[in-house]
Amino acid sequence: MAHRLLIPQGALLPALQARLEKKYDARILPAAAQDQESFLKAEGEGIEALATNPKFGARAPLLDALPNLKVVSSLGVGLDGLDLELLRKRDIAVGYTPEVLNDCVADIAFALLLDVARGITKADAFVRRGDWYKGGFPMTTRVSGKRLGIIGMGRIGSVIARRALGFDMEVRYHNRRPVEGSQFQYASTPVELAEWADFLVLASAGGAATNKLVSTDVLNALGPKGYLINVSRGSVVDEKVLIEYLRDARIAGAGLDVFEQEPGVSAELASLENVVLTPHVASNTVETRAAMMQRAEDNLDAFFAGKGVVSSAL
Ligand code: 8YV
Repeated sequence: MAHRLLIPQGALLPALQARLEKKYDARILPAAAQDQESFLKAEGEGIEALATNPKFGARAPLLDALPNLKVVSSLGVGLDGLDLELLRKRDIAVGYTPEVLNDCVADIAFALLLDVARGITKADAFVRRGDWYKGGFPMTTRVSGKRLGIIGMGRIGSVIARRALGFDMEVRYHNRRPVEGSQFQYASTPVELAEWADFLVLASAGGAATNKLVSTDVLNALGPKGYLINVSRGSVVDEKVLIEYLRDARIAGAGLDVFEQEPGVSAELASLENVVLTPHVASNTVETRAAMMQRAEDNLDAFFAGKGVVSSAL
């Protein structure tokens, strides 16, 4: 008999949901909170698997309503929405999709960096408006050969560092602890790294340990010539403070793919000239999303084949 799988409405890409619905006994968790309660009362006990994403996550009280849950498969690399402690305690397997998105996330980090420094989006608008007839585009900031600081030298951070070498940039990093064997110099604090860097790229995990890691002290250290790039989680940055620093030109600019309250982006942030904003699209290519969907599916299939999830987050 097909295993019973819970899919929160809207959590998966439709193509993955359709594939899972073919081989699992899928139940869709309604989006409205008042419908969820009665749904879980009726269905919760029978659910063996949960397919989710980093944002919807897997935490109490949902997990408490699923007493027979055996496996969670999350479509993404971020684990900040998953209560790993509770999942571990209940001996629930947790699959996620690391590695396959490293390249595309690193690409977007560089796209944002190049755009905010060289003014690609602005230059595009300039040409379209016909402003070129009136005179040349203002000078921008050089990227090649500059100093790139990376906060979070994990899988994605290392690929960003590799990209930076192609731009002849000097790379240093900050991480919870130095990465053994790394060719790059370690900065013991984010402030030390920001003081040194021309570009500060955030590639760390989200969650409590990095909450508002970038606030007044780091932005002061980055200074009026420094740029901030964020492809990790909005929670890593104190967005209110960042907006003040951008508005007052106390940092040069920011390229942001992630925000505190997605999909909400504050009107003030969106009105600033020295930012480039993308809607959390770093992994959003056909190729990478296909690989993520495959891994999320494989995690479930392998678990139920008795082999354990392919990529375990625990
Ligand atoms: C996706 C992400 O937007 O992997 C992550 O942690 O934030 C992104 O890749 C998301 O996971 C899509 O479900």
